[in-house]
Amino acid sequence: MAGPKENVLMEKIVSLCKRRGFIFQSSEIYGGINGFWDYGPLGAELKRNVKELWWNTMTRQRDDIAGLEATIIMHPQIWKASGHVDTFSDPMIDCKTCKGRFRADQTNEIPCPQKPSKMVSECHGEKTAPRAFNLMFQTYVGPVRDESAIAYLRPETAQAIFAQFKNVLETSRQKVPFGIAQVGKAFRNEVTPRNYTFRSREFEQMELEFFIKPDEVVEAICGRVATAAEISKPESEQRAASVSLADPSSISSAGKMPAARSDWGWEAWHKYWVEERIKFYEGIGLPRTTLEEYWQKPEELAHYARACVDILFKFPFGTQELEGIAARSDFDLSQHERFSGKPMGVFDEELRTAWGKLPKEKSDALWRRYYENRKKYLAKMGVAEEPASKDATEDANGLAKGQYIPHVIEPSAGVDRLILALITNAYSEVTETDDKGRSETRVILKFHPRVAPVKAGVMPLLKNKPELVKKAIEVRDRLRPWMNVFYDDAGSIGRRYARQDEAGTPFCVTIDFDTLGEKPELKDTVTVRFRDDGRQERIAISELLNWLLPKVR
Ligand code: GAP
Repeated sequence: MAGPKENVLMEKIVSLCKRRGFIFQSSEIYGGINGFWDYGPLGAELKRNVKELWWNTMTRQRDDIAGLEATIIMHPQIWKASGHVDTFSDPMIDCKTCKGRFRADQTNEIPCPQKPSKMVSECHGEKTAPRAFNLMFQTYVGPVRDESAIAYLRPETAQAIFAQFKNVLETSRQKVPFGIAQVGKAFRNEVTPRNYTFRSREFEQMELEFFIKPDEVVEAICGRVATAAEISKPESEQRAASVSLADPSSISSAGKMPAARSDWGWEAWHKYWVEERIKFYEGIGLPRTTLEEYWQKPEELAHYARACVDILFKFPFGTQELEGIAARSDFDLSQHERFSGKPMGVFDEELRTAWGKLPKEKSDALWRRYYENRKKYLAKMGVAEEPASKDATEDANGLAKGQYIPHVIEPSAGVDRLILALITNAYSEVTETDDKGRSETRVILKFHPRVAPVKAGVMPLLKNKPELVKKAIEVRDRLRPWMNVFYDDAGSIGRRYARQDEAGTPFCVTIDFDTLGEKPELKDTVTVRFRDDGRQERIAISELLNWLLPKVR
C-alpha cells in the first residue's frame, strides 16, 4: 500500500498532468466518468511516440513480425471460444451500508469519490457474498436489441490476432516462428478503477502473439530442444550489448539473435521475449532498477499457460504490473479451430521430411508426448474421453504429414500504464535560489528524448527583434518535418526554459544576436540547452537537424 509520501507524489503528478495538458478526466465538464481518461496535447504526443516506438521495434525493425489492425467489435463467438464470455469476471461484493460496489479481493481501499487518484479506507458495513461480474462491455449490433444481436467491446486486442492468424500467415508469407503485432483500444468494465490511469475501463494495449513450433516439432527437426539457460547471454556480454541512447536499434536485439534459434522451444522463446521487452523499457528511459520480473507460481497461472512473467514497475502507489509475458501453449488457436470449425494448423515441409527420417522409438515417443498434450487440453475443455482420444490421435498423426497447431508466446503491454510509468519516472523537482535569496521549486520531466512529447523548443532570444524572430521561424521550419518542435517567444528566456523543462522537452534551441553575426565567427549558430543539467552547446544551424535526429529517435 502507498504511504503518505507516495500519495503526495501521486497528487503532484495528477495535478501536473492536468495543468500541463498530459491527462484530463474524461467528460470533466459533466463531473467526469470513473475509469475514463483523455490525453491532452502533450499526453497525446507522448502516447503516440510510445506506440510508434513499440510498433517500429516489433514490426519494422524485424523480419519475423507482421502487423494487424482489427475491429473493436468482433463476432461474439470469438469471446465464447477465448473463454471471456464464461470466465472473464471479477468477484464483486456490495456494501449494504454505504451501497458501494467493490472487488472482493480489493476491499481495503477504494478510490476517493471526490478525488479518484486518492485511495481511502472503505466503510465497515455488512457485505454481500461475492458474485462473478463479467468485465466485458456488452452492446447490440443492428437495430434489434435481442440475444442474437449481442456483441462485446473487445477486452483485449489478442483475440483478433488469433482469429486472423491464417489470413496473416498466408498474405505475409511468414513461416513459424513468426509473430503478429497489434496496438489498439481494449475495454473492461472494471469494478473499481483505481490509481489514476493504472486501472481504467477504456485503455490501449500493445500485444504480440509470437507463434512457435511445439517442442515435439522442434525436437523432431533439430534432434533437441535448447533450454532457456542456453539462450541467456553471459552478464559481461549483456552489459556490452546494453542500451545505447544514440543507437536506434538498441531497444531491440533483432538481427543480433544467437544462431541457434531453430532449436528453441517454448522456454527459450519465452525467456527471449522477457529479455527483449525489458530491453525495450530500458531503451525508452525506464532504468532496470525500476523494473522487476515476477515469475508467476504454478498455482497462479491461467489453466492454459505454461509460464507467465509479469514485468512490474515501481509506481509511487506500489510495484505493479506493466506487462505480462505468457507462454499460452496452443490453447487459443485450438479453441478457435474447435469453435469456428476452420483449421488453424500449419504445414511444415521441414517437419514432414525430418519425421520420415526419425528412428521409430523417437517418433513414437514424440507422437505420444504430442498426443498426451492434445488430450489433456481437450479434457480440460470438457471433451469426453472417447472423442478426446480420437481427436488427439488425429492431431498426433498430423505430425508425420508435417502438420501441427503452433504454440504462442504473448508479450502483452498496456499503453496507459506505460505512460504513467514514464511520467512518474521522469518526474523530478529542483529548488533554485536567486541572487535575492528567493527560492523556487520547479518540476522537470526527464523523459528519454525518444518518448518526449516535444523534442526541441525553438526560441528567439527576444520577441521584439524581427531578425531574431525570422531566423527562429526558419530554424523551426527546418526541424518541423522531422520532429515535434515548439516555438515559444513569450516571456523571459528563463521562464521559457522552465516551461519546456516541465513539459519534458530535452533540448531548447535559442536564436540570439550571435546567430545574426554579432560575433562573426558564431554567425548562423544557435545555443542548444540541455534540459537535465542546463548545459549549453553552440551548434551550426546547418548541422542542427543531424545533431538532433539520432538523439530523439
Ligand atoms: N491478452 C492478454 C491480456 O490482455 P492482461 O494481463 O489482462 O493480459 C495485459 O493485460 C496488459 O494490459 C496489462 O499488463 C496492463 O498493462 C494492461 N491492462 C490490463 N487491464 C488494464 C486496465 N484495466 N487499465 C489499464 N491497463 C490495463
